[in-house]
Amino acid sequence: MTTLGLIGSGNIGGTLARLAVAAGIDVVLSNSRGPETLAELVDELGERARAGTTAEAAAAGDIVVVTVPLKAYQAVPADQLVGKVVIDTNNYYPERDGEFPDIEAGVATSSELLQRHLPRSRVVKAFNNIYFEHLASLARPEGAADRTTLPIAGDDTEAKTAAAQLLGTLGYDTLDIGPLSESWRTQPDTPVYGSPYTASEPFWESEARPADTETVRKAVDAAER
Ligand SMILES: NC(=O)c1ccc[n+]([C@@H]2O[C@H](COP(=O)([O-])OP(=O)(O)OC[C@H]3O[C@@H](n4cnc5c(N)ncnc54)[C@H](OP(=O)(O)O)[C@@H]3O)[C@@H](O)[C@H]2O)c1
Repeated sequence: MTTLGLIGSGNIGGTLARLAVAAGIDVVLSNSRGPETLAELVDELGERARAGTTAEAAAAGDIVVVTVPLKAYQAVPADQLVGKVVIDTNNYYPERDGEFPDIEAGVATSSELLQRHLPRSRVVKAFNNIYFEHLASLARPEGAADRTTLPIAGDDTEAKTAAAQLLGTLGYDTLDIGPLSESWRTQPDTPVYGSPYTASEPFWESEARPADTETVRKAVDAAER
């Protein structure tokens, strides 16, 4: 894979863009306000980065990350993502996103909603359970003793393999937790949300701490509906 497309270039999108460029991957950034508003970030990232419309970022990416507030998921361009692996970092915060009845009822996870919106793409949930500053600081080269593990979920095995390869290149090991229907196990307020990656709480005010696969597996298994 040579190009990562980003739909959303905020805290998580910007962090992933920096990790990708550091790993030698080209990035195409996008947001809701237009490419010109991303000039500063593109400038910081250098020649591997450019900005485009969301449709351009979707079309350019070998893999595309959707990293917008959940309330905006229906604005993600579907046609340009046909056949592609789409990584979904979204979390559901009703106070920010409004209420989604299917999520409230436990009928669908937020990633299943995105998968419904992108029926001809293969959605993999990843990066949603780690604070963006920790995502930036815990990346390690393959084989490092203190590599951190992130959970992934998805309905397509090949897509999960591709996502795991990307995460590996960006600096993370992965733990496959099953289909998208299981991704509630990594949503806000579950044991694997934020906390495994710091020694103290609240996690967003604490320094990052690496978490290995066993730590992450235990936290995922401890989730309760
Ligand atoms: N912050 C974290 O540590 C963290 C960790 C894990 C997961 N997440 C989740 O990941 C997602 C992104 O979080 P974030 O913290 O990166 O958010 P953020 O900093 O607010 O950035 C959101 C990005 O989405 C873009 N966006 C919003 N509506 C859009 C639309 N209709 N079309 C295209 N782009 C749109 C924004 O562009 P404009 O600025 O131009 O509107 C911005 O670039 C959220 O679902 C969040 O819950 C966040």
